[in-house]
Amino acid sequence: MELKQIVLERYATKKFDGKTIEQKKVDELLDIIRLAPSSWNLQPWKIKIVTDSKLKEKLRAASWNQEQITTCSHLFIFCANKDIDAQITALKKLMLSTKVPEQTVKEYEDVVRGSFKNLSEEKKIAWAQRQVYIALENALLGAKASGFDSCPMEGFDAEAYAKILNLPENLVPTVVCPIGFAADKPKQKTRFAAKDVFF
Ligand SMILES: Cc1cc2nc3c(=O)[nH]c(=O)nc-3n(C[C@H](O)[C@H](O)[C@H](O)COP(=O)(O)O)c2cc1C
Repeated sequence: MELKQIVLERYATKKFDGKTIEQKKVDELLDIIRLAPSSWNLQPWKIKIVTDSKLKEKLRAASWNQEQITTCSHLFIFCANKDIDAQITALKKLMLSTKVPEQTVKEYEDVVRGSFKNLSEEKKIAWAQRQVYIALENALLGAKASGFDSCPMEGFDAEAYAKILNLPENLVPTVVCPIGFAADKPKQKTRFAAKDVFF
């Protein structure tokens, strides 16, 4: 499918048919998500994948009872990683292991650590969450390109999710994305005209 067709056909699915997506397809989607760009390439995200029905039921109760949560095949919970220092250290290790010259890595580390040094925790979280939304868009378009459907969702209680999933303190549930096969129909796209958007 061409990108324009994918963009036109993707829609926020309100109900899935409960069928499970084959693992090979899910794995392809994970790669599409993983390859998303991010500021400084820090990839400050962790994505929890839930397929267990009982766990989905608990999460649905913390998601305004929205039925996408329990009818989907896989539920992706996109978390922002607010421990940016640890993320820089991990990326530094990765760069060195992929033979990036030591001097380049050192210069990179100095600049990046410096840029976060005086940021409040609130700003660090906001920064990490912005990156998470880029990965989310890859998930939304990637799902449609792979032949299934999705729904971006902010209608959930992040604190309750963190408790139910027993998440480590550094992970902030930011947006969730159920994927599966739609059991509803898309509504018309209501979008502002180009003249009202671009200037
Ligand atoms: C960040 C974000 C959060 C959203 N949260 C929800 C949600 O909790 N539940 C829901 O049914 N739709 C949710 N939506 C879907 C939007 O309502 C939908 O994308 C918008 O109305 C445009 O419709 P379309 O995606 O079908 O083209 C969300 C969309 C985005 C981008």
